[in-house]
Amino acid sequence: MLFKQQAQLRQKLLVLGSLAIGSVLYLVARVGTLERLQPVCHVEHRLVPGPEQIPLRSLQFKRALLHELRRGNGTKEQLGLQRLVQQLPQAIIIGVRKGGTRALLEMLNLHPAVVKASQEIHFFDNDKNYARGVEWYRSKMPLSFPHQITIEKSPAYFITDEVPERIFKMNSSIKLLIIVREPTTRAVSDYTQVLEGKERKNKTYYKFEKLAIDPSTFEVNTKYKAVRTSIYTKHLERWLKFFPVEQFHIVDGDRLITDPLSELTLVEHFLNLPPRISPFNLYFNATRGFYCLRFNIVFSKCLAGSKGRIHPEVDSSVLTKLQRFFHPFNQKFYQITGRTFTWP
Ligand code: A3P
Repeated sequence: MLFKQQAQLRQKLLVLGSLAIGSVLYLVARVGTLERLQPVCHVEHRLVPGPEQIPLRSLQFKRALLHELRRGNGTKEQLGLQRLVQQLPQAIIIGVRKGGTRALLEMLNLHPAVVKASQEIHFFDNDKNYARGVEWYRSKMPLSFPHQITIEKSPAYFITDEVPERIFKMNSSIKLLIIVREPTTRAVSDYTQVLEGKERKNKTYYKFEKLAIDPSTFEVNTKYKAVRTSIYTKHLERWLKFFPVEQFHIVDGDRLITDPLSELTLVEHFLNLPPRISPFNLYFNATRGFYCLRFNIVFSKCLAGSKGRIHPEVDSSVLTKLQRFFHPFNQKFYQITGRTFTWP
């Protein structure tokens, strides 16, 4: 009898114990979900140490005010934004064209401590702009608070000879972001963009195969710009004459398409920013076939239709030839950067 009562008691305790553990697990999961779904910074994290630190939550709030200012819904004074400044960029996305530079810039701009220059400024690669001086460059920068980071992107920087030295002269400790894609795909994407431009002007254009392969040797045509741009290591070597490899962060453009958050978290770390871009900020849009951006519960956007074009079909033997051609350059790129890709 006593044994039976004890066994019943043990069973009851077991059930109660499981219920308690289940509830705790449920609550942990729920809190986790809520945390991921928070539209604004719910915990006050502080930015990189500095004399005057602003909590991220207030930066988020002030960003909203900045938006109002841009829309002409008040003056700087009315909105209490007297401390706004135009800062030179502390980080630049230097390339690579068609690597996903626009997506990277827009996605980083989701971070409350990041402000993007919307247009490509082309300061360092364009002699005429460069001659206008650094204050001209600053005047092209968006308004920001002193503790925010300004970022610009001009993919032509990566492949233009004069640029590394010019950027070095402006700020030798600047952070440099390079977003790359599998080189053959990038070359086809590059071609597709030019092709679309020609078609818009009702012009005919060569097929990719004709441009990428030298008709006299049947070898890869290294004079073709779309091919040259994809030899990442050649360009990077020029940059390394001025900047140590630690000042670069390589972003995987193919992964930014399929799993943007993991790439963005790495960039946040590289920029010394607290991780603030969350799953809430990125959602997959099946119609677009890409991730789109959610800034808050009311404002979200996808990239323009010119991002994510359908590529023309290319002869598979040409693709293979290109992949073989890029292979040794890719190996060298992995070796220099310490970031390995599964490119063929
Ligand atoms: P494709 O048009 O070849 O697909 P860039 O901004 O440097 O010109 O790069 C354009 C590329 O960004 C596009 O190349 C597209 O694949 C890629 N991309 C990455 N994330 C994207 C996103 N969320 N929306 C649209 N395009 C994105």
